[in-house]
Amino acid sequence: VGRVPPRVLDLAAGAERVYVLTGAGMSAESGIPTFRDAQVGLWERFDPTELATPHAWAADPAQVWAWYAWRATLVRRSLPNAGHRALAGWQARPGVRLDVATQNVDDLHERAGAEVLAHVHGSLFALRCSVCDRPSDAAYPELAEPVGRLDPPTCTACGGTVRPGVVWFDETLPEEDFLAAVDAAQEADLVLVVGTSGLVHPAATIPHLAGDRGVPVVEVNPAPTVASEAADEVWRATAATALPALLEELGGGIP
Ligand code: APR
Repeated sequence: VGRVPPRVLDLAAGAERVYVLTGAGMSAESGIPTFRDAQVGLWERFDPTELATPHAWAADPAQVWAWYAWRATLVRRSLPNAGHRALAGWQARPGVRLDVATQNVDDLHERAGAEVLAHVHGSLFALRCSVCDRPSDAAYPELAEPVGRLDPPTCTACGGTVRPGVVWFDETLPEEDFLAAVDAAQEADLVLVVGTSGLVHPAATIPHLAGDRGVPVVEVNPAPTVASEAADEVWRATAATALPALLEELGGGIP
């Protein structure tokens, strides 16, 4: 194949414990726009970093709910890409433990057949009450097209407003998930950082914490990021081309 940088292949072939931290770029080739990409259509005037906040929710829950309902619709219409499938295939290889920690709130890793150790920014589909915090069985409505406002469902236990189970800007990460994500990275033989801009903390510190313990860090990203310089190796490729090529070189198959 000849597309995999030799050092990356060496590191991957020698690793019994692999850790993959994924970001929005992981799902870009499934058609889900990254956060810092231009948004299209109805929502192009809105900045996700303003909508995905407790402040926006307090000011206008119907607007925030409508935005998430549209994101959920896009995710449901999307399929895992070859990169997601390659990680599932690598995870299935005998003698290898591969942990996936994702900043993505979609379910494409799981739909590709991979097990996810940590959703460090929560999950779109894990709805919960914004008042009593209980998990909710409510669901996003199916939207044929984006709408500007939609009333969120009501909690059957307390009557509070149901919200997406994601971590918004200015909110703290679920501590247990985050600590598990850090521990596993520090115990790995190799950390791959795929499709993340490295701008959002504390998730962005995970590779650095592993690197400080001497774990080699490889960045897979078509564009430079703030984390590129700290990486031991940088592979300028997309998730859906790089990961299948790497798995193939390792002699593994995609399920
Ligand atoms: N393959 C790999 N990487 C890609 C691809 C691709 N096909 N396409 C784009 N990228 C890279 C971009 O170069 C960029 O570095 O993916 C990165 C996407 O960056 P962001 O949109 O900032 O996404 P992410 O790093 O996941 O954002 C972190 O911020 O908005 C919040 O909570 C949200 O989890 C998110 C967090």
